[in-house]
Amino acid sequence: MSTQGLAFTGAFHVQNKTWTAVDSYTQEHVHPTTAPNHSTLLDALRNSRDKGLPDIATAPVVAKMYALQCKANKVKHALEFGTLGGYTSIWLATVNPELQVTSLEISEHHRAVAQENLENAGVADRVTIRLGAALDVLPQLAKEIESGAKPKLGFVYIDADKQNNWNYMDRIIALCEQGAVIYVDNIVRGGSIIDAGNPEPRVQGARQVVENAGKDERVDSVVMQFVGEKGYDGMLMAVVR
Ligand SMILES: C[S@@+](CC[C@H](N)C(=O)[O-])C[C@H]1O[C@@H](n2cnc3c(N)ncnc32)[C@H](O)[C@@H]1O
Repeated sequence: MSTQGLAFTGAFHVQNKTWTAVDSYTQEHVHPTTAPNHSTLLDALRNSRDKGLPDIATAPVVAKMYALQCKANKVKHALEFGTLGGYTSIWLATVNPELQVTSLEISEHHRAVAQENLENAGVADRVTIRLGAALDVLPQLAKEIESGAKPKLGFVYIDADKQNNWNYMDRIIALCEQGAVIYVDNIVRGGSIIDAGNPEPRVQGARQVVENAGKDERVDSVVMQFVGEKGYDGMLMAVVR
């Protein structure tokens, strides 16, 4: 599926006609308009745009890759940091009928729009948004997982305030099953990750999580660069040992 101009037009992202065309062509074939969640996902982007949310939703190919990763690993409980309009949550839940998603969001407006989108997608019973700063909301979720009230995490997607990338990863590893996969988005940032002197907090947040993950014996990690309709970026993938 293509997002049909509904997302990713922000100035931060370098655009390239070939990358975008390749995404359009391949998605037309691997996620055609006949896919059950196709129109629902476009509706979510349209409603998010109409309600004034920023156009920073995860790229369709990346969100689908996460959904397929959950399917391959038969994940029962996924956690997302940063709900925005619920785009990735809808992907995860629609591709995986058994999956429970917990998503953390600081903005009341984003949460409200996401809730509309989840209801429209028919997955509101399996996606729970917890409102608040993720670092404040996490201790309660941790208690519920530690007490067995909620299953351990099989998949984590970190996509909120990038300065806290490492704080989030550090705290959730203990709540994950062995073999759980953690992704941290927007790591490459057009290549700016290699600039140690770049004062931009999001660049420093990307560098910190890569450097700390590499030293951490609880996980085995890799960084993947990618190009596409969202430009040039990449993510860190970590597997819990
Ligand atoms: C890049 S967007 C998330 C996109 C979303 N994952 C998707 O797939 O469409 C980042 C979101 O994180 C939220 N956010 C920022 N700081 C946060 C914090 N400290 N705790 C929780 N959410 C936060 C923002 O309000 C925004 O909705």
